[in-house]
Amino acid sequence: MRILVTGGAGFIGSNFVRLELARHDDEVVVLDKLTYAGNPANLREFEQNPRYSFILGDIADAEVVATAMDGIDAVVNFAAESHVDRSIIDPGAFITTDVQGVYILLEAARRQQIERFLHVSTDEVYGEVPNGSVSEDAPLRPRSPYAASKAGGDLLVYAYFVTYGLPTLVSRGSNTFGPYQYPEKLIPVMITEALDGRSVPVYGRGQQVRDWLAVEDHCSAIDHILRHGAVGEAYNVGGGNEYQNLDVVERILDALGRPRSLISYVPDRPGHDIRYSVDSTKLFQLGWMRAHTFDEALDATVRWYVENDGWWRPLKEDRDYRAYFQRNYEARGEQGPGARGQGLGLTKPRLPTPDPRPPGGRSWP
Ligand code: NAD
Ligand code: TYD
Repeated sequence: MRILVTGGAGFIGSNFVRLELARHDDEVVVLDKLTYAGNPANLREFEQNPRYSFILGDIADAEVVATAMDGIDAVVNFAAESHVDRSIIDPGAFITTDVQGVYILLEAARRQQIERFLHVSTDEVYGEVPNGSVSEDAPLRPRSPYAASKAGGDLLVYAYFVTYGLPTLVSRGSNTFGPYQYPEKLIPVMITEALDGRSVPVYGRGQQVRDWLAVEDHCSAIDHILRHGAVGEAYNVGGGNEYQNLDVVERILDALGRPRSLISYVPDRPGHDIRYSVDSTKLFQLGWMRAHTFDEALDATVRWYVENDGWWRPLKEDRDYRAYFQRNYEARGEQGPGARGQGLGLTKPRLPTPDPRPPGGRSWP
């Protein structure tokens, strides 16, 4: 098989390329725009592999996409603007890539009669799930610009299955963590800030719940769905590890031997989803199993960041990253990178800010 992996230079995409090349004899072509989150270093180890090639380009550019899809059997679309906080600051790029980009990919796939089109979606399309777990037929009620644009792409994929008979598949994975994750999401922000002795910013009271999924398990699930999934179907991929953010942050500080006094409570994210929880029974019935526990995968992730500061330090020193970090955190009263503040162990935790949510949360619509 010749597989086009869009967004393959990002966090999950590059881990997926690693898994595909190790597990199968297929050829992998990566198409990536190399936005701030795309990093050629994530793919450097494959450069000499004759089954791997790279195309620099935008999934929203029809010409580039048509060329990239030539001779391709299957498409796996990871390409996306992927960070909720950035989508709150500037939603435009999310709509261009996560909706329009998916449309351009689908059009090309339809014209070139692609055999499998797997779209990597997210559990965030369901919106927050205060109680229980949602299955794939639950309504999509996205609540952030990121989740809404991902839901747009997800639904377009289904429309192309129904309308044009394109053999599509959708995966809806939960919060993913592991090596090569750009340091803007919870786990790599906490690890890298704490390693440098800076305070770690917890939104609100840290009581929101996320279901953590090891990146190797997310990639093996996508691989499984690609090969065994029924076309037209969506599959939830949960981690089976639901924890409040504060628990996760405390575990990271403990693993690094850093004091909990580094925790700094900062004003909450607007529209912050209280909890995500998906029911993955459908995927288990398809024969997929997780291979990692949360504790083991979190320890391995912490070790990876400790041992690979040559990977993340340049990212955090980048001007654009610093500008983003400042904009996102200073507005919340956090100091931002470079402002070493009180140093290791001397940072006083701020008082939790009152939670602005009405009791029981807001309901839809
Ligand atoms: P990421 O931000 O690390 O990587 C995204 C990649 O897409 C980057 O390499 C970037 O350069 C590329 N890209 C962005 N816009 C592009 C465009 N217009 N054209 C071509 N390439 C473009 O993201 P990630 O965390 O690896 O997530 C990958 C996918 O998985 C996304 O679709 C995301 O919505 C989904 N997902 C992520 C998580 C998570 O916890 N990280 C969970 C569930 C689903
Ligand atoms: P994040 O990694 O951004 O993923 P998502 O918003 O897609 O779930 O955030 C995970 C949780 O951690 C979320 O509830 C927001 C919270 N969070 C913090 O408390 N502090 C931070 O600095 C970040 C980035 C996230």
